[in-house]
Amino acid sequence: MSNIRIVTHSASGASCKIHDFGACLISYQTGAGRECLFVSRDAKMDGSKAIRGGVPLVFPQFGQPDKSMPQHGFLRTNYWTVDESSAFDTKESAGITYTLQLKDAKAARGGIWDEQTMFDCTCLYHVMIDGTKLTTTLEIQNTSTKRFFFQALLHTYYFVDGKQAMDGSKCYVKGLEGYSVIDKVSNTEYISGSDPTTIQGETDRVYNPPVGKDMVEVTIGVGKGKELKLTAVGTVDGKKKPVSCVVWNPYIEKARGLSDFGDDQYQEMICVEPGILGETQLEGGSVSKLTQVVEML
Ligand code: BG6
Repeated sequence: MSNIRIVTHSASGASCKIHDFGACLISYQTGAGRECLFVSRDAKMDGSKAIRGGVPLVFPQFGQPDKSMPQHGFLRTNYWTVDESSAFDTKESAGITYTLQLKDAKAARGGIWDEQTMFDCTCLYHVMIDGTKLTTTLEIQNTSTKRFFFQALLHTYYFVDGKQAMDGSKCYVKGLEGYSVIDKVSNTEYISGSDPTTIQGETDRVYNPPVGKDMVEVTIGVGKGKELKLTAVGTVDGKKKPVSCVVWNPYIEKARGLSDFGDDQYQEMICVEPGILGETQLEGGSVSKLTQVVEML
């Protein structure tokens, strides 16, 4: 049965909502009442499909490199459990942790992840809020003795106020200059220049950081006069791993083809998705963490 948990930060009045299907964060409102996340009006909330919006979790692979594996992995299509003992609400912040163990993941996993006897892992999702900031960490603990390779990503849908996602002066991502871009729409690869990244049509790009740049630090325009700052860091056993950034907007045609996305809603959202996308190894007993901090400016 689906359940939505509301976490409130009493000191600031900020709150967030987390759906236990996919541990999908579906709302974060600042203390001043500003909504940060986009959720499609046609999103399925009954567990029949990954939730279209908020922050779906992607692991152990981004996309579907192997047809035996589900698109974006299995975290977003399984029910997670709330760790009640983790809930807190202090003067500084409020938060909660969700967990999912590989052995409890019922929905399609695919590939090596079906060989339960060889691989096991515990997935933890920590959500923390205060009056102006949302911090989410996807933590993967390899509890087996075998190493595995993985990718992890926070597929964040931001709400763009005033249906201005197509207006490059109001909706943009600044801070990706020098990144190597894989443009999946034009099938080209290039180095990102100094202009902000904007949405001019269907957009589906992976931005890989230049050598020496580990973390993502970008400013995102989400409507007239509204910005937020995104910082994302990835680690394995505390050692930093490069974090890439995906920028996605389906635009008109793709939006029409998505059954759980309103035809006109491409104007109200931009996905900016930090992820560990290089082929990364996690040894038995090792822990990976991907953290994003979103600060509403
Ligand atoms: C993005 C991918 O992260 O997610 C796109 O880069 C994909 O290629 C999009 O279309 C949405 O994926 P899905 O599975 O939620 O429809």
